[in-house]
Amino acid sequence: MDKNKKPIIITIANEKGGVAKTTSAINIAAGLSLRGKKVLLVDIDSQTHLTNWLDFCFDGKPTIAELIYQTVAQFPVNHDDFIRHNNKLNLDYIPATPMLAGAVTTLKADQTDETTVFSRIFSDGYFTKYDYIIIDCCPSLDLRITNAVICSDILLITVQADPIPYQGTDKMLKTLLRMKPTANIGEDVLILPTMAMNIQVSKAVIEAIYESYGKMVLSPIPFRASVKNSSANKTVLVRRTSDDVGKAYMNVVDALIGGEIHG
Ligand SMILES: Nc1ncnc2c1ncn2[C@@H]1O[C@H](COP(=O)(O)OP(=O)(O)O)[C@@H](O)[C@H]1O
Ligand SMILES: [Mg+2]
Repeated sequence: MDKNKKPIIITIANEKGGVAKTTSAINIAAGLSLRGKKVLLVDIDSQTHLTNWLDFCFDGKPTIAELIYQTVAQFPVNHDDFIRHNNKLNLDYIPATPMLAGAVTTLKADQTDETTVFSRIFSDGYFTKYDYIIIDCCPSLDLRITNAVICSDILLITVQADPIPYQGTDKMLKTLLRMKPTANIGEDVLILPTMAMNIQVSKAVIEAIYESYGKMVLSPIPFRASVKNSSANKTVLVRRTSDDVGKAYMNVVDALIGGEIHG
């Protein structure tokens, strides 16, 4: 194993809920795994949608909240305790529980730097076995997000192709970029338009996204009922080659692997 190899950390964020962060996280992660990459998914949302989608059954072992706590408290961490495996998708994950709601208070207690706790967690040599770490964020801009943005190599912002959720995107983007002023627009900060519909208002938002953020924009993900079925059935669409959404997420995966972000 190459000891100098570091995983690429992709943080999927948006201050708003319901804009396909979790759907994107799981499909991109499963798609990377289909391409032979070793992937770790990390749930930092106390609503635990990603964790539920991965069919997690509470097993008494520690979750992301304890990983944050042990790091802040500078306790020794036994990494294997935190990692679960999803056989169906062939990937590892660190689950969340509602206990994660207290993580902001824990992070604030950090004596070194409350914004770099995640950077310290994921720079441990244990994680060099992964090619990609994908962090599925909660709908906020709190200290969890600051940590996730700072530790990431790629910040992927899902933007729903709908006029109301689109409002405020510019302001949110500026806030996220202030968390990481070294970020390279178009290379390590990307926008993924989601739930694109074949109706005028949705098309107008996609056009506005391209106009405002051109070189940062990945090919849009279409709106399809198959997504609802896939989350209900705890499956992913990248495994279905005939599905439009699956194909669109595989385009994102290949763009990420190839460094070719313009679709
Ligand atoms: N491409 C899509 N087509 C149709 N519905 C979608 C699509 N992407 C996401 N959804 C639905 O939108 C809702 C919010 O998605 P989710 O991934 O949970 O968002 P977030 O994590 O940002 O809160 C879910 O019900 C999900 O099934
Ligand atoms: Mg979510």
